[in-house]
Amino acid sequence: MRGFLDLHSHWVAGIDDGAHTPDEGVAMLRALKLAGFDTVVATPHMRPPMFPNTSDDLVRAYDAMLPALTGPDFPATALSSEHFFDDIVFPRILAGQALPYPGGKAVLVEFSYDAFPARIADRFFDLAQRRLRPVLAHPERYRPVWDDAAVLEPLLDGGAVLLLDLAALVGKYGRATQKAAERLLEQGMYDAACSDAHHLDDVADVARGIERLEKLCGREEAEFLLGDGPRAILDGTLPQ
Ligand SMILES: [Fe+2]
Repeated sequence: MRGFLDLHSHWVAGIDDGAHTPDEGVAMLRALKLAGFDTVVATPHMRPPMFPNTSDDLVRAYDAMLPALTGPDFPATALSSEHFFDDIVFPRILAGQALPYPGGKAVLVEFSYDAFPARIADRFFDLAQRRLRPVLAHPERYRPVWDDAAVLEPLLDGGAVLLLDLAALVGKYGRATQKAAERLLEQGMYDAACSDAHHLDDVADVARGIERLEKLCGREEAEFLLGDGPRAILDGTLPQ
């Protein structure tokens, strides 16, 4: 029982580039539990036109999987979404047509890898005004961050929270992403670490990522990033 809370995963089947089948999603949850996660939040993509999911679509797909998830082998689950931050999805977030994290105090967002959206600091400020804290998925994967991590500062000033993808620490996304992750970790920029697991095979990388995280920043900090950090994001108690 390690008490970890995973804020980012794609185990809901058939709705994005995550689990292909319900059986795969079920197996992913069992594996994430073995890796130490007692709670796993599903965050399927909301990214039209690539993944044209509405909140209702995601709720239906999530609910369809719940009957298979009973028993001690499974973590507790919840539903949210990974919102692609563009001119379609951002207004949905403002209009209450998105899926913030349980408790409604934070919302997971992603950008395209090559460039940050226009006026992003202002948009994050708009979310903060609504007491909705933006949680940025895998900041280490963005090319502007590879060049200069200072591009994140206006976002952090706007209340953003940075979410490490554990598999980045074991090279899953290449050398530049791994180096960026190690640098952000060393600078204490992350508030939580997650699996971003899309398929069953990914969970082995996540488990290795947890070991590497402990080596790089010590057990106490690792346990914060996997437990108290994500819990504080959901509770709305993480300091600015
Ligand atoms: Fe994701």
